[in-house]
Order: sequence, then C-alpha cells, then structure tokens
Amino acid sequence: MEPTDRDELLRLLRDLGAQLAWQRDAGLGEVPRGVDAAPSSSVEPTVEALPPSQHLPPPETTVAASPVVEPPASVVPEDRPRPREGVPTRAEAPAVVAPTPVAPPRSLPVLVPPPRDLETRRGRLEVVAADVRACEACKLALKRTQTVFARGNPDARLCFIGEGPGADEDRLGEPFVGAAGQLLDKIIAAMRLGVDDVYIANIVKCRPPNNRVPDAEEMRACTPFLLRQLDEVKPAVIVALGKTAASFLLDSKAPMGQLRGRWHTWNGVPVMPTWHPSYVLRVRDNPNSTARAEVWNDMKLVLVRLGLPVPGARG
Ligand code: URA
Repeated sequence: MEPTDRDELLRLLRDLGAQLAWQRDAGLGEVPRGVDAAPSSSVEPTVEALPPSQHLPPPETTVAASPVVEPPASVVPEDRPRPREGVPTRAEAPAVVAPTPVAPPRSLPVLVPPPRDLETRRGRLEVVAADVRACEACKLALKRTQTVFARGNPDARLCFIGEGPGADEDRLGEPFVGAAGQLLDKIIAAMRLGVDDVYIANIVKCRPPNNRVPDAEEMRACTPFLLRQLDEVKPAVIVALGKTAASFLLDSKAPMGQLRGRWHTWNGVPVMPTWHPSYVLRVRDNPNSTARAEVWNDMKLVLVRLGLPVPGARG
C-alpha cells in the first residue's frame, strides 16, 4: 500500500472514530455494528407506553426535524470533533457503519416543545395574575378596590368570558359572583357541569365605574392579560357572554342577535356568543323575551361540541 493511501485510510478511521464518539457522547447508545444493523430498539421511544401528552411526534418528523442524525455544524458542540472537509459523510463512506436513523432520546432538545403540564400553567397564570394586580395602565386602576382575575379550573375545556367586574366582583375579587354570576352558575349546573369544568374570566379586570361598558382604551390596555390567560388555559370551546366579549373575540361589531347561536372561531378555538346573564336578568319579566331559551339553546350546542350529553335530550 502506498504511504499516502495508508495515511488516508488512517485519517478516515480517525474521523470515523471521532464521529462514533460524538454519537456515543450525545447519548445515542450503542452504535450498531455491521452493514445491516437495524435502528437500536433500546433508544427507540415506545410511544404507546406513554400518556398521550408525552407522545413524541411520529418518528419521521422527529428524525427529519432533529439535529441528531446529521447535525449541522452550528449544533455540534465546540468541544466535539467536527467532520473535516473532504471526509466522506457517513452515507458516502465505505459501509463500515450503516447510516442509522436514530430517534433522539428525551434528554436531547426536541424542536417541538412538549405540552405544558398543569402545574406549569398554574404557575404562569399566577404570574399573569400578579401582573394584573400591579397594572396601572388605564384609568380603571384608579377606582378599583381590587383586580378580578378568574375563577374555575385552568385545566377546563370550557371557558366563559364576560365583560368586566361589577360591584360584587370588585368587592370579592372574583368574577361572576353577583346576581349575574348566580345565573351563570345556574346555567353551568343546568349543563350538568361544575366549577371544575369551567374557567371564567373577563375582558377587563377592574370594575368600570357605574358598570359602564369598558371603553376602547381600557380594553386595549387589559385584553393582553386575557390573551395570556387563554394561552395557558387553551380551552376547547369559549362562550362569549354578551356583546363586549363577543365583539372583542370575533372582531365584529354585529349585534348579538346576529352573532349568537352560531359557531365562530377565535385563533382556531370555537366560540359561541350568547346573551350576557345580566341581560337575561334585565329582560326576565318581559314575557316576550326569548333570551333565556336562546341561552339554553346555545349551551346545548356547546355541550354537543364538547361531546357531552345534553340534559333532557332523547337518546
Ligand atoms: N359581569 C361580567 O361581565 N363579569 C363579571 O365578572 C360580573 C358581571
């Protein structure tokens, strides 16, 4: 063998060794030996054995999106040897080690972030609540007794969004605890749901004086908090209670009579606008008002959408 050929072979072997060391150090387990080695089952995640929230993306996605199989130079740690220019890639190299698509172990960074667990989301919601308590971004802060953040379960699939705190909410620090709240609780109970099945919040977190509708500036200042709440709760369905909530979520000035009773979407989440409980209370003595029945019809649509039984429905 010519000395240059031998040198070249030695260099190839050294580089190959370095690559194998990188792969081993990266936690990829035993590198299979032999031309036909199959992907090692010891590093293949067993998706079925995990709860659904921990399922990894399908293997093709993981491998394609992962820097592990063929890392770009930028993700190779500085202290690890990089393949030198001119050295064949593993695909081009003589078949000493077959290119092996290996799914990354869980300890490596995965490009798809895992779903946040409930405790994390509770913690992040507590941060939002603290930001709300500290907020002085609009004039509503001047007159409030306290801010009103939310009640219910951050893990709920159903979210009710109202307009803003009234006098009782301002005093007690929780949304929908006055007369409108009592009616809302009755509606929720009629749906055969409980406090743990819902998350309730408002468009603005401070009471507008005399229960007036919050103005555009107040809504602009406050709605980022609601968006952060919804981003943590990630409800399957939102019920917009009344025009203020419906107009904001649907970005529409249409009257409630046109909006309610039909599905809309907010950021891909189904939204059912319905009459605000305060309105239902205001018109309750009007024998011609259909508001109460319409709210119930809307809630039945919500139950169907959630795949829940509709009380009173046959079958
Ligand atoms: N009305 C609302 O819109 N929200 C409350 O919290 C109470 C009454």
